Amino acid sequence: MVNTTIKTTKSQEIFAAAQNLMPGGVSSPVRAFKSVGGQPIVFDRVKDAYIWDVDGNQYIDYVGTWGPAICGHAHPEVIAALHEALEKGTSFGAPSVLENVLAEMVIDAVPSIEMVRFVNSGTEACMAVLRLMRAFTNREKIIKFEGCYHGHADMFLVKAGSGVATLGLPDSPGVPKSATMNTLTAPYNDLEAVKALFAENPNQIAGVILEPVVGNAGFITPDAGFLEGLREITREHGALLVFDEVMTGFRIAYGGAQEKFGVTPDLTTLGKVIGGGLPVGAYGGRRDIMSMIAPAGPVYQAGTLSGNPLAMTAGIKTLELLQRPGTYDYLDQITQKLADGLLEIAQATGHPACGGHISAMFGLFFTSGPVHNYEDAKKSDMAKFGRFHRGMLERGVYLAPSQFEAGFTCLAHTQADIDQTLAVAKEVMSSL
Ligand SMILES: Cc1ncc(COP(=O)(O)O)c(C=O)c1O
Repeated sequence: MVNTTIKTTKSQEIFAAAQNLMPGGVSSPVRAFKSVGGQPIVFDRVKDAYIWDVDGNQYIDYVGTWGPAICGHAHPEVIAALHEALEKGTSFGAPSVLENVLAEMVIDAVPSIEMVRFVNSGTEACMAVLRLMRAFTNREKIIKFEGCYHGHADMFLVKAGSGVATLGLPDSPGVPKSATMNTLTAPYNDLEAVKALFAENPNQIAGVILEPVVGNAGFITPDAGFLEGLREITREHGALLVFDEVMTGFRIAYGGAQEKFGVTPDLTTLGKVIGGGLPVGAYGGRRDIMSMIAPAGPVYQAGTLSGNPLAMTAGIKTLELLQRPGTYDYLDQITQKLADGLLEIAQATGHPACGGHISAMFGLFFTSGPVHNYEDAKKSDMAKFGRFHRGMLERGVYLAPSQFEAGFTCLAHTQADIDQTLAVAKEVMSSL
């Protein structure tokens, strides 16, 4: 059912109206398709691994609302749990047992987490963890990596990958120099650069934060020894190691990258999957560090809707579904078939390409690679990616509208979906 002439009249009308109402017509920049060209499609509904747009076109979805939909969209058990929770009210602003349940699940799953605080987004989690890093160490500088995204807080908008890179902005107007002057950056996978920063800033660096597998500069994996090396260097300098697992948490393994690679950071940020499609973020880690958070300790951080019963419910049910036997084997198997298939097709059709996958996260760059960091990722042929993206979209496959985003699979993708995606990719790459 390959459809090359999709009708998108309603999408165009709605998006045109949206542009008068909201900056760029969207609530988050990358959704506007700026880096791939053409108009975004406007969604009507989502179910399992599929999206339907307002003109009635159906797509196989590899964005999964940017990560949360790992069990498939609108999973019947998540929806049923939400219906039940809804009857009890939408927000408490007070303790609920649901928070205990999700907290225990997160603590059991993620090696570094002994205590957790729930917030409403990944951005919030990263902002809060930064304050905590600084408070615990009594130091102000931090190291982040070029191309890693940790939400849109001022202190992190330096070489921040994804949306920022997509728009070609070095960082953002409105971010004062004073907010970023303590943010040091190094190329991803470069331990020597990290060592040099520690040497140049003795006893001043609170810690190192990173995406343990990068998803915001395209899909980039850590070289052998990189995560271990960071663990050693931070320990040696009395600094903290923070894994931003907003994207990788519960996605590349149930216990995230730290389980997958066997490296335990001091603190971890989470988001996306733990909210099962509702707004949740979290940060957690060693008990001695987390005990500094108010009201247990002096580091202030709060939230009206934090620990919201609907969000907790969706998170709990999503994690329960992920605990069922075979889930990560299935995710790995279909994603490997997809990632390998895309590379084989690129090779067969004469396009230099590289990429790969870990569990339910994958990527493809239009450069022969290898891609170890953001500078390497930028060698990808963006114009070609734009044409590839449009060709796939027009034939019913929805990929992230940026070369600098990882792709996501989910439990609802069938073998037939993967086969169809590869058949479409072959057709598109043959005509690029
Ligand atoms: C690694 C990482 N950290 C933080 C964030 C920010 O999360 P949110 O968009 O929920 O604020 C994202 C979002 O994509 C992310 O991928």
